Amino acid sequence: MNKIKRIGVLTSGGDAPGMNAAVRAVARTALANGIECVGIRRGWQGLITSDFVPLTRESVGHILSRGGTILYTARSDEFMTEKGRLKAVATCKMLGLDAVVAIGGDGTFRGALELSRLGIPVVGVPATIDNDVGCTNYTIGFDTACNTAIECIDKLRDTMQSHERCSVVEVMGRNAGFLALYVGIAVGATAVLVPEHQTDFDRDVVERIRESRLAGNTHFMIVVAEGAGSAVEFGKKIHDALGMEPRVTVLGHIQRGGAPNARDRETATRMGYYAVNALVEGNTNCIIGTQEGGIVQIPIEEALVMKKHLQMDRYRIMEAMQFGGLYTNDNK
Ligand code: F6P
Repeated sequence: MNKIKRIGVLTSGGDAPGMNAAVRAVARTALANGIECVGIRRGWQGLITSDFVPLTRESVGHILSRGGTILYTARSDEFMTEKGRLKAVATCKMLGLDAVVAIGGDGTFRGALELSRLGIPVVGVPATIDNDVGCTNYTIGFDTACNTAIECIDKLRDTMQSHERCSVVEVMGRNAGFLALYVGIAVGATAVLVPEHQTDFDRDVVERIRESRLAGNTHFMIVVAEGAGSAVEFGKKIHDALGMEPRVTVLGHIQRGGAPNARDRETATRMGYYAVNALVEGNTNCIIGTQEGGIVQIPIEEALVMKKHLQMDRYRIMEAMQFGGLYTNDNK
C-alpha cells in the first residue's frame, strides 16, 4: 500500500515559530516509515531551481526549539506562472519525489493545489502567526507570536502608566485580527482595531478613551492590527481629537521570531506526524488541521474556500472588561 519512497518538505510564505518543529516531525516520521526525506529550500522557488538538502534524523536534531526555518522561506512570483510550476514538476521528477509536504499559510496552499493539479501529491501543514487559515482552528506560530506581543506590550504599559500616556501599538495581521484581538484581551487593551471590523474612529477610539478616563484611568492602550490602518495615523488622530500625546510602537517582525513555545512545538510535531501518515495512507492533496482539539485532514480545494471568522464574542468580552456590558450569546 505504501508506494511512497521519497518526499520533499518545504516552508513557504511568512515564517512562523514552530516551522522547524514541523520539518523535524515530517522528516523523522518519514524516515520511521522507510521514506527518504528531502528538504526543499526557499519554498516553492526552491522546487523550481532544484535547491534541496537531504534530511536525516541527525540533520533535523536540535531544531525543535529554534525559531525561523532552517529551510529558509520565500514568496515565489515564478511559481505563480505555469512555466514556473512545470519547472517545479520537473524537479520533483528528477529528484524522484513522490509527494511534497508544504508548511505555510493560505498562499502556500494555493501553490500546493496548483502543483497537485499537475500530478504531484501534496499535503499542507498550516503555519502562520496570523492564524487565518479557514480549515483549522489553529496555525503553528500563533501562540508564540501572541506571547511575544504580550511581553512587549506589558513593558510598554509600565512606562505608559508611569507617564500617564496613551500607547498605540501596531501588531501584525494584514488581513486578519486574530493576533490583535487575542493580545488585546490578554493585555487589557482600551480598544482593539481589526481589519474585519470597519473602524468608526469616534466610536471605537475616542469614546473608548474618554469612557476609560471618566472611569478613572490615566493611561490607555490601543492595539491596532496592521490591516486596520496605520498606528502612526491613529496616533495623530488621537492627538487631534483629545489633545493627548500618544506614543506609537510598531512591533513588526519581532513577532515572527523567537523560540516556539510549548503549544507550537507540540502542535507542529503532531501536524508533521499526521501529514506523513496521510501520505502513507494514500490520503494526498489535503491540509492537516485542528478541529475540536483533534487532527483532521481536509481536501485542499475544500480547505481553500473555508472561512474562519473572528469570534465577535471575544471582541465583546474585551470591551466588557473595560466598560462592563450585557451578556450576549453570539459565540458563533
Ligand atoms: O506572516 C504573516 C504576516 O505576518 C502578515 O501579518 C504580515 O502582513 C506579513 O506577514 C508581512 O510579511 P513580510 O514582511 O514578510 O512580507
